Amino acid sequence: MRTYQTADSLRKALPRHKSIAFVPTMGALHAGHMALIKAARQGHEIVVASIFVNPTQFNESTDLDAYPRTPQEDAALLKKHGCDFLYLPSVADIYPTGFDTSAAAGIDFGPLTATMEGANRPGHFDGVAQVVSRLLAIVEPDTLVMGQKDYQQVAVVRAMVQRLDLTVRVLVVPTVREPDGLAMSSRNRLLNPGERRAAVLINRQLSAVAAGLAAGWPTQPLEQFALAALGDHELLDPEYVQIFDGDTLLPYVDGDNVRELVVATAVRCGQVRLIDNRIVDLLHNP
Ligand code: PAJ
Repeated sequence: MRTYQTADSLRKALPRHKSIAFVPTMGALHAGHMALIKAARQGHEIVVASIFVNPTQFNESTDLDAYPRTPQEDAALLKKHGCDFLYLPSVADIYPTGFDTSAAAGIDFGPLTATMEGANRPGHFDGVAQVVSRLLAIVEPDTLVMGQKDYQQVAVVRAMVQRLDLTVRVLVVPTVREPDGLAMSSRNRLLNPGERRAAVLINRQLSAVAAGLAAGWPTQPLEQFALAALGDHELLDPEYVQIFDGDTLLPYVDGDNVRELVVATAVRCGQVRLIDNRIVDLLHNP
């Protein structure tokens, strides 16, 4: 694996005649990220990963400061899983002065960012769009590989790709979980043992809502029950548990004709804010 710290050097090194899959990350890598690397390997000659803790997508400076940074372990893990190129840029390399990287940050995503994380983290998706568009312009991959764990992020990036008329394909990988069901996340390592135990409730409540939906229960009591169950735990403070139309990301209204439902939640657990979601495939769960 070869590591580059500047866009210029990476651009020169990448073999443009080969098929390239790209996995952008913020580091503190875990098995969820490695599932993306594995998916990237299949069907592509070259796998590129980036590690960049993007300041413009953090709406809380304490979250940015606390974000775990483990570049050496990350590089070893990427190498072991068959990543070919690692881009490890500085803030100045991603956002050079005198260079306009804000075009994507100005896109109006409409209803796609009106709910979930868009509603609860002002400016977050402007920052995500900004950094992903910049990274895509540098790497120019055939395929961009992303995780379903960040469901709304995928929707926003797909919309951005359309709006900017980019040709990149977006490949989505299912959420990888710990044995007890907690979705893997870089932020999990910030949980103390008590918080870590409490955090299993998040996936359990999503499962309960998904099971209720599949059994034909109405939306609102399911949401309210899960919210209350999470809030009952002294170490958990849920921000939302809500059921959405997976395509529009608008709140689901019972009886709406939708292809896919997604139950999404954000829960504060001590100083850490965790998100998770569960897809309910109505076609196969009538
Ligand atoms: P980060 O949180 O590091 O996640 C990088 C990629 O890994 C994202 O596509 C995310 O959805 C995926 N991922 C994280 N946990 C996962 C899990 N348990 N299972 C499957 N995939 C998982 O998301 C970001 O970074 C940033 O917003 C980024 C896209 C890099 C832009 O800065």
